[in-house]
Amino acid sequence: MADNDPVNDLALLLTPEGRALLDEVRDTDPAQELAVATRLRREHPAELVSAALGQARLRQRAAVKFGAEDAGRMFFTPNGVEQSTRASVAAYRARRMADLGITSVADLCCGIGGDAIALARAGIRVLAVDRDPQTAAAARANADALGLTGLVEVREADVTDVDTAGFDAVFVDPARRGGRGRIFDPEAYSPPLSWAVSAARRAPRAALKIAPGIPHEAVPEDAEAEWISDGGDVKEAVLWFGTEPGAVRATLLPGPRTLLSRGLPDPGVRPPGRYLYEPDGAVIRAHLVAEVADRVGGGLLDATIAYVTADALHPTPYATAYEITDHLPFNVKKLKALLRERRVGTLTVKKRGSAVEPEELRRKVKPQGPHAATVFLTRVAGAPAMLIGHPVRA
Ligand SMILES: C[S@@+](CC[C@H](N)C(=O)[O-])C[C@H]1O[C@@H](n2cnc3c(N)ncnc32)[C@H](O)[C@@H]1O
Repeated sequence: MADNDPVNDLALLLTPEGRALLDEVRDTDPAQELAVATRLRREHPAELVSAALGQARLRQRAAVKFGAEDAGRMFFTPNGVEQSTRASVAAYRARRMADLGITSVADLCCGIGGDAIALARAGIRVLAVDRDPQTAAAARANADALGLTGLVEVREADVTDVDTAGFDAVFVDPARRGGRGRIFDPEAYSPPLSWAVSAARRAPRAALKIAPGIPHEAVPEDAEAEWISDGGDVKEAVLWFGTEPGAVRATLLPGPRTLLSRGLPDPGVRPPGRYLYEPDGAVIRAHLVAEVADRVGGGLLDATIAYVTADALHPTPYATAYEITDHLPFNVKKLKALLRERRVGTLTVKKRGSAVEPEELRRKVKPQGPHAATVFLTRVAGAPAMLIGHPVRA
């Protein structure tokens, strides 16, 4: 069931009949949707029924980002769910802004309001701007549904026409998905990154959300760059203006735990030790592997690969530690024999700097038995190698 006119759909859903129907269909199993729709159409207009079922589906999808409770009260568009910031990350950024003493933010490109909601919940007054009518309408409905209208003003406008004078900070989260999927060139963002940077420089402080793959050379000299991961998955990079120009940090959620660059030189390569440390993705993106190596007294297995090796165990939140039991040149037959001898039935394959496909390897070695192991396919001082071990229990 496609939503034909989402702006109109949202208006229908905000009527008392629409709200009641939304409550009724909230837990509809997608497999039962057709039967439910047929039944409901006997008592309600067909377009309202399909709008309510479509919205229920979007809310179910949004629960991963916003939690079931908030998502169950909010209003979404298909793109709005995809593009919104997950609540944990938005809350962290909003808290950092509040801690900087920021009390008002112009949220330029607010989408359905993921960030605006978090900012308002941190006590910050927000002007939330989006040029897309259905998206702006959803943001307005969300501020209302969550009791935040006193702090959030939603404006349907092009951000390039908005005067941000008087705000303590601007926040820009440009659209990074075009008609043909994700956009990698920051100048192809809407609005382009260069526009966002000039808007940032006009404000006392600013935060620009960008793709985590941004090359470090593209970070403006007057910006601080922060990479954020949540539960080990890298979510975004943020360019901060008006904080610490030139600073680079990796922040891990939940926590938050922040690792700051001290400008350490690259760690040297050394032979494999008893422990292997796999840095968090935000640490790797922020080029802070040297900080982890320094903390654990280790070095690199290979100059170009982000695996740290050390003789001692130094638990750190910034990397997962593995105890290594075997280290040998890459060889499928040897791996198979070794796993059989150890009766390993559950094999986790990790790789960096290897072209081997984990699934194909698993098929070839046919793990069987009651034990579990992790194999790292990587290079040791340039040569293809495999290191076998298991995660160190915290
Ligand atoms: C990545 S989304 C924002 C998501 C939002 N931060 C959230 O958490 O829900 C980007 C939004 O920018 C809007 N947008 C793109 N270019 C714009 C422009 N020039 N003026 C206003 N809005 C724009 C799009 O309509 C889209 O909703």
